[in-house]
Amino acid sequence: MAFAITQVFVPRTEHECRLWLHSLQVATAARSIAELMDEDVDGGEAYLAGLLHDLGRFVFLQQSPEKLQSRFEDVWCGGGDTLAAETRVFGVDHAELGGQVALAWELPERLRTTLDIHHQEDLSRLDRSTQALVAAVQIADRMSLALLRIDESEADRVETVARAAELPHVRRSPRARQLAPLILRVEEIAAEQAAALGIR
Ligand SMILES: [Fe+2]
Ligand SMILES: [Fe+2]
Repeated sequence: MAFAITQVFVPRTEHECRLWLHSLQVATAARSIAELMDEDVDGGEAYLAGLLHDLGRFVFLQQSPEKLQSRFEDVWCGGGDTLAAETRVFGVDHAELGGQVALAWELPERLRTTLDIHHQEDLSRLDRSTQALVAAVQIADRMSLALLRIDESEADRVETVARAAELPHVRRSPRARQLAPLILRVEEIAAEQAAALGIR
């Protein structure tokens, strides 16, 4: 699946390579986090949801690379401000657009839902296993963003990343002490996968 997608979204610029690395980190982390959670979430499904979670961003890059790169070069937080700015520039934010593409591609409903709401905090309307899948992707997203932001030389990097990855608004989600042991392995596996796909 990852290989097929790189044929469509071939990374050329540093920005595109970083988006790919982020996607691979989120995929790898989401699989491990799903295994930590009590709910019945399949690791393969979590990997795929993580890989595709920012699909809307790939579409922005494909369609308007100059707009995305000039306005969002260093913006990886994906929080409310970023989503609102995307809506102003593109008429839709990357999460909503990802959900629309997933619908057009006839991807399974849980995957579509995950793409669509991966920046929303209120997951209460979802059934328990979909809630767990979305939460796994959200934790993985925060973990990857912190990994990409915090320099390798920084003291206590793993602990800082683990704390940043916690999802305080979701009860029963893994806490920093459970996430910390995953972090360096996630970074290593995603780097190997990126290298295998020819992504620098
Ligand atoms: Fe996102
Ligand atoms: Fe993301």
